[in-house]
Amino acid sequence: MGDLTVLGIETSCDETAAAVVRIGEDGRPVVLASVIASQAAAHAPYGGVVPEIAARAHVEIIDEIVLQALAEAGIGFAELDAVAATAGPGLIGGVMVGLSTGKAIALARGIPLIAVNHLEGHALSPRLAEDLPYPYLLLLVSGGHCQLLAVEGVGACERLGSTIDDAAGEAFDKIGKALGLDYPGGPALERLAEGGDAARFPMPRALLGRKDCDFSFSGLKTAAARLAEAAETPADRRDVAAAAQGAIAGQLAERTARAMALYARSHGGEPLRFAVAGGVAANGEVRRRLQQTAHQHGFSFAAPPLAYCTDNAAMIALAGAERLAAGFSDGLDAAARPRWPLDEAAAAARPTHAPGRKGAKA
Ligand code: KG4
Ligand code: ZN
Repeated sequence: MGDLTVLGIETSCDETAAAVVRIGEDGRPVVLASVIASQAAAHAPYGGVVPEIAARAHVEIIDEIVLQALAEAGIGFAELDAVAATAGPGLIGGVMVGLSTGKAIALARGIPLIAVNHLEGHALSPRLAEDLPYPYLLLLVSGGHCQLLAVEGVGACERLGSTIDDAAGEAFDKIGKALGLDYPGGPALERLAEGGDAARFPMPRALLGRKDCDFSFSGLKTAAARLAEAAETPADRRDVAAAAQGAIAGQLAERTARAMALYARSHGGEPLRFAVAGGVAANGEVRRRLQQTAHQHGFSFAAPPLAYCTDNAAMIALAGAERLAAGFSDGLDAAARPRWPLDEAAAAARPTHAPGRKGAKA
């Protein structure tokens, strides 16, 4: 098998993205182009992502973004071996825009379509920037997701734990909003927390005593939001932000430690590798705590550059290329799916989300 050059398309939330990734004979990916148009400014006045606005904005620029990615990669449609598009989970209007675009290109050029699970894209994203062999343990922490996955290979992710209510990024955003910060609140909250006293306000510790690797952020979110509303001085606000950030980072590290113990038991004798991905991986305190946890448990630590942590199409192109190399492709009738657990077997056995429940970006 020679090189594989794949166009990736991502439209599941508020980023319109297209990328070209080439994997060589050695399986190593090269990102030839990765273009991302953020709609954050369009949603900011509403304090969250508005699905209708997102879908319309995707439709308006997706063609241009695809052409820009090809131009930056210095190739034409004729050089593509396949097109990969996010088929879910995500905001359905947006997913349909990207998937239809992918189908149209596949049909017009006579190349395979690969319908990619957005979560698989995130799961593989650390491989874009460094030589991270399978298997590895991954913490995916974004605005819509919070899960621990054993990533054995493409199409082979096992979920070890997941949030039973909000995603960590959602908690950052809601607490940020209560502190009067602009959406998305995570980065602004991190800046506000600088120099704050994380110990001044005790935060609830969720799921204490539970032996699994699940997360819960709703109690913490409510407690922090209440403190935020009662904060009077700049120092109060700084201390609330520091306490909330510390509690979120602490919980992420604690559940990751449990997952590391489980993972080490089932991967005895193999090198133990840990990676973190998703927008919340940008947070310095979160990174620091996870790095420390990895060190304590004998795991290596990898965190992709921020451009590959947050939503992007390079991770979708990579998942598509690896799927194609493994012999998978999809029909032009592939469905856009608002919900699509990465590990369908584990999710069906242990549903943590009641059907129909949605987070801000779920
Ligand atoms: O991966 P992402 O761009 O989008 C989703 O797929 O959800 O993640 C966005 C989330 C937002 O909730 C944002 O507040 C959070 O990541 N985030 C942060 C930081 N940067 C982004 N949270 C805490 N600290 C940060 N520095
Ligand atoms: Zn995402």
